[in-house]
Amino acid sequence: MGSSKNNGTLRLCFVCLGNICRSPTAEGIMRTLVSQQGLDGHIEVESAGTGTWHLGEPADSRARETAKARGVTLDRRAQQFLREWFDRFDYVLVMDEDIQKTIRRLSPSTDDHAKVHVLRDFDPDSPKGSRVPDPYYGGPDGFEDVFDICDAACRGLLAHLRASHALPDARPADSRR
Ligand code: 4NP
Repeated sequence: MGSSKNNGTLRLCFVCLGNICRSPTAEGIMRTLVSQQGLDGHIEVESAGTGTWHLGEPADSRARETAKARGVTLDRRAQQFLREWFDRFDYVLVMDEDIQKTIRRLSPSTDDHAKVHVLRDFDPDSPKGSRVPDPYYGGPDGFEDVFDICDAACRGLLAHLRASHALPDARPADSRR
């Protein structure tokens, strides 16, 4: 799995339904981890939704508040994942297997098909195919759960990227969990 189209930079896109709750949370967590580990410029992170309901809106205020309390800023606006974007990304990380099917249906090639991974499959403590539950219609606890789930999965994803690609070592002061 290469990153040749992107000058050696690995490019990741997290995908949920609305791009206002789960994928912006995962994007913010991953960007924070990347920065803490001195990997800015080596890994770029974005997110999108499959749907159009919330295009152009900021992340849900509950997601933003939960993230802010954990030191993570969510500051992007919702966008929809487009077929052409397979060229732009090395990894497309989806929140569940239904979204994986939706996104894979858009994929122009078998290589692109293989870029689409269930995010929690990178968490060694999650059973294969585990979903990041949709918190949109629930209470604040759901957003706390989503944050914890995405945090664990993003740490596993970063470990996978380190094992699979030539990335600089973590700076000693930043390698603690
Ligand atoms: P997300 O949550 O996919 O995590 O952004 C949702 C946000 C909005 C809707 C569904 C899920 N909606 O139906 O509007």
